[in-house]
Amino acid sequence: MDKTTLPIGVFDSGVGGLTVVNKLRMLLPHENIVYLGDTKRNPYGERTKAEIFQFTRDLLGFMTQVNVKLVAIGCGTITATSYDTVKHEVNYPVIGMSRGLHTAMATSNKKKIAVFATPLTIANHSHKKMAAQIDPEIEIVEQACPALANLVERGVLFGEEVMKPLRQYTEPIIASGVDTAILGCTHYPFVQPLFEQLCGEHMVFVDPAHEMALETLDVLKKAHLLNESPEQGYLRLCFTAEEERGAALAQHLIPAHEFTVEKVSLT
Ligand code: SIN
Repeated sequence: MDKTTLPIGVFDSGVGGLTVVNKLRMLLPHENIVYLGDTKRNPYGERTKAEIFQFTRDLLGFMTQVNVKLVAIGCGTITATSYDTVKHEVNYPVIGMSRGLHTAMATSNKKKIAVFATPLTIANHSHKKMAAQIDPEIEIVEQACPALANLVERGVLFGEEVMKPLRQYTEPIIASGVDTAILGCTHYPFVQPLFEQLCGEHMVFVDPAHEMALETLDVLKKAHLLNESPEQGYLRLCFTAEEERGAALAQHLIPAHEFTVEKVSLT
């Protein structure tokens, strides 16, 4: 069976993983993509670990059913909690969001890196633990951004409602003297220009969506799974609730591409 034409699966707690889809469309336009956003149960960033394990298995189960050739988990909270376990439970490659850390480590001259992420990701200290294993001299400064994923879910991408919490999150990070920052949640690239407006001259931002697209390309290439078709791949967007809101954000983010939208149930 020719597996190259099978779709790439991308999933997230909600709409954040659409930033990964956007980068994948640019880098791998011939690939078919199935996106699944668990908009019914998000945000994940303030859930318990047991819930995240269950949700991740539900999302992966859906991807197995639609017969994907690879899954990219566009969710920092899942990467920080259940990813290391669940990636062994399926028979296709599963990519998390760790590549951003490697890029940040290669970028930071001061060896001092900020991580902006959800409360659960920060409570797990996964970037800190991983960095310590690679280079004990790297200092990771963590900043939880409790309101941010939810604001992005609601489509609040500019104005004082989002600038106010962003100022709160970025001020201590600017004061800490980091020169590089990781956006540790795929919702955050939606407001990366605002992060840059507030602290751009002090630090370089690493976009997790771009990093994931690059890793997907590497993995597919190595596994000889790249779709060689000359046609543009299809893009199927699935949401567990409020699919019109997901479609509107997709239109905002990836306007030049056609896609289909549907509501699916995981439970
Ligand atoms: C959230 O649902 O709270 C954000 C998910 C993420 O960490 O990417």
